[in-house]
Formats: sequence, C-alpha cells, structure tokens
Amino acid sequence: MPSPFAADRLPDGRRRYSHRAVVARRTLLAGVVVAGTGTGAGIGWSRSSGDRAAAGAGPAGSPDAAPPAASAEPAPAGTAAPAAPSTTDAASPWVVVNKKHPIDPADYAPAELVTVGGEEVGAVAAPDLTALLAAARADGVDLRITSGYRSREHQRAVHERAVRRDGLAVAESVSARPGHSEHQTGLAVDFGSGSEPGCGLGSCFEGTPEGRWLAERAGLFGFLLRYPAGYTEVTGYAHEPWHYRWVGRELVEQVAHRGVATLEEFFGITGGPEYA
Ligand code: DAL
Ligand code: ZN
Repeated sequence: MPSPFAADRLPDGRRRYSHRAVVARRTLLAGVVVAGTGTGAGIGWSRSSGDRAAAGAGPAGSPDAAPPAASAEPAPAGTAAPAAPSTTDAASPWVVVNKKHPIDPADYAPAELVTVGGEEVGAVAAPDLTALLAAARADGVDLRITSGYRSREHQRAVHERAVRRDGLAVAESVSARPGHSEHQTGLAVDFGSGSEPGCGLGSCFEGTPEGRWLAERAGLFGFLLRYPAGYTEVTGYAHEPWHYRWVGRELVEQVAHRGVATLEEFFGITGGPEYA
C-alpha cells in the first residue's frame, strides 16, 4: 500500500501543506504556541531516525519529518534544550500506538491508575479528565465515561467479542488487537452520552449533546479526537466520535496549528489498516 504521507492530498481531499508553507506557518505560530502554553521553548525531537525512515516520511527537515513547533529563540549557550516527549515510550503522553506500532513492552501497564467517572485512567491524564467532566456538568451536559485503561488481556476479550459479533473485517475497523490498543496506555477514553445512552460506541454519539460538546471543547483539556472521519488510511480505524486521546493541551494546539488531524500526520509516523 502506498504511504498516505507521500500524497499531496489528505484522505478527505484537503491539501497537505508544502514545505515552504509549513516553515512559514511554523515561524508565525511558534510564538503563539509558546506564549499560549508557557512551555515549548527549545522543544527537541525524539523520534528515532529508523522510525522516521520506516514512515516513508522523507529526510529530516521535510514537512512530515518536521519537529513540533518550537520557539525561534535559541537555547542559551551551554543549556541543553529539553527533549520533547517520546512517541515510542508507552509511558509518554505523546506515544503513538496503532496497527503498525504496538505497545512496547507488550504487557505495559501505567505505573499509576486513577479512577475518574467510574473508569481507570493513567494518573497523568486524570486531572484534565476530571476538569473536563466538571466543565461538561457545569454546562448541563451529561457526559459519561464508558472505557478508560484496558489491560492487554481485557483488550483481547474486547477484540474477540467484536470479531464474534461482527466478523473480522468490521470488528477490526473499530477494535484493536491486543497489544495495539492505546487504551492500554491509560491515555484513551471512550465517552458515552447520559442523555442518549443508546448512542454509546455508535456513530450517532456525534450528534448527541455530549458528542457535540466534546467535539468543541475536548481540546481545551488536552484531548484529541483520535479517529476522525475520513482518515482510516492514516489511523487504521473508522470514525470513532466517542474515542478521545489525552496528549496534553500543548500538543493539541500544535496539531491544530499545523492544520493536520491525526498524530500519524503530525509526527510522520506510519499507520493505516494493515498490521505490521
Ligand atoms: N477502538 C480502538 C481502536 C481500540 O480498540 O483501541
Ligand atoms: Zn476507545
């Protein structure tokens, strides 16, 4: 299958940025990102060159291999620039897990889990998730959490149940094989609708008050819609309007400023519906 990253068009037909446009845009926005978050100065780039090459993302400096937006200010002499979070370390808030990139180690579990809204999530995501639920409640939106952290064995059961129910092809468009689900990182959350409970894990969730509220506001709390519509060739999954991934607000802002929709595009990491 040709790499989706080589195309000038995204799967939904939107144009990819040219290198020149990305550089100009990054220069313009770098100060905004840094000013907006209070962090990000001197952000480094910690993806391995091997993974970058595997992504077919081109040489360092190409748009797909470009690092996250960072301050134009050079680090003071003698000061090592702080590294950006890893995209391969399972404990990193920026880890990318998909059908090409399983969790490593395979039996990974977050060091600390916290229960929020009745489900366990990684401790690092808990404060933002708690704030998100409180904000929804204050807006009169009955947001529920239907799934957070899932162990490898739990994911195996979820995947097997989906395959029994829907057959392999349909099941695998929305369910990861064990060891390939970002729920195992503790950073992914499936939301449900208290006002329309029948729309849990269904495409109709998008149109519920809860789904609409999330689509507008989740980013303010560091959550990204992880499987947007029209990006199956990139993410490997069908649209899942209920599945959000905590990456932190800084990265949400950088993804938006780059004008991309997925972590795979932002980091130049391989994905798609075929397992490695
Ligand atoms: N529903 C997502 C793809 C998972 O199973 O992790
Ligand atoms: Zn999910």
